[in-house]
Amino acid sequence: MLNIIIAGPPGSGKGTLAKLMIEEFGFVHLSTGDMLRHEIGLGSALGKEVEAILARGDLVSDQIVISLIANNLKANPGARGFLFDGFPRTLPQAEALDDFLEKSGHPLQLMILLKVDDQVCEMRLLRRAGIENRPDDMDPERVRHRLATYYAQTVPIIDHYKKQGKFVGVDSSKTPEYTLNQVSECLKQIL
Ligand code: AP5
Ligand code: MG
Repeated sequence: MLNIIIAGPPGSGKGTLAKLMIEEFGFVHLSTGDMLRHEIGLGSALGKEVEAILARGDLVSDQIVISLIANNLKANPGARGFLFDGFPRTLPQAEALDDFLEKSGHPLQLMILLKVDDQVCEMRLLRRAGIENRPDDMDPERVRHRLATYYAQTVPIIDHYKKQGKFVGVDSSKTPEYTLNQVSECLKQIL
């Protein structure tokens, strides 16, 4: 069983890479952003609570995303492995995930960091704004706020995984297939 985190700034290609990895390796994809947007789409109490937070590009509370992840791990007992996309984003989230996975007997193997310049991320997200209608893509200020949130709150967890010897960075500025090839090379060494 493989448990892998895909991390990187907004627009770095986490969701795009996750889709390709699922086709190739058969993971269960757990994206906290997708889960939260699903709740917003349903109009649930949780969706109503978080809608404005996502639109602004701030993080929702650790407690909310940790419980979403815990529920999804329980709901997929026979999974071949999990791909965590956009989670963890803070140190308490990273510690909670480490704890869940240690207890399951299948600790995390790798954090893959997608490396790409801010300007490229910004351009990708503003281009997507016209296609997917995500409120947080809609104007350059919000996109820059998401990038700033990433640097302030999420970048510090990279060290957490570096210290564990579980970190690899890959170039995500070229095509999605180019990114996938680099990841496949890394995975060959641990599969
Ligand atoms: P989330 O949904 O995780 O959004 P994000 O991190 O801002 O990232 P995106 O999904 O926008 O980008 P991505 O890296 O997946 O790139 P993608 O493949 O789509 O989170 C949204 C919000 O939810 C957060 O702001 C927060 O409010 C909340 N949240 C979520 N998780 C949380 C947590 N753990 N704690 C607290 N709050 C949380 O690609 C982007 C675009 O670029 C696409 O159009 C794609 O087609 C294109 N593209 C991708 N790769 C390439 C490539 N190689 N070349 C050219 N174009 C490419
Ligand atoms: Mg995404």
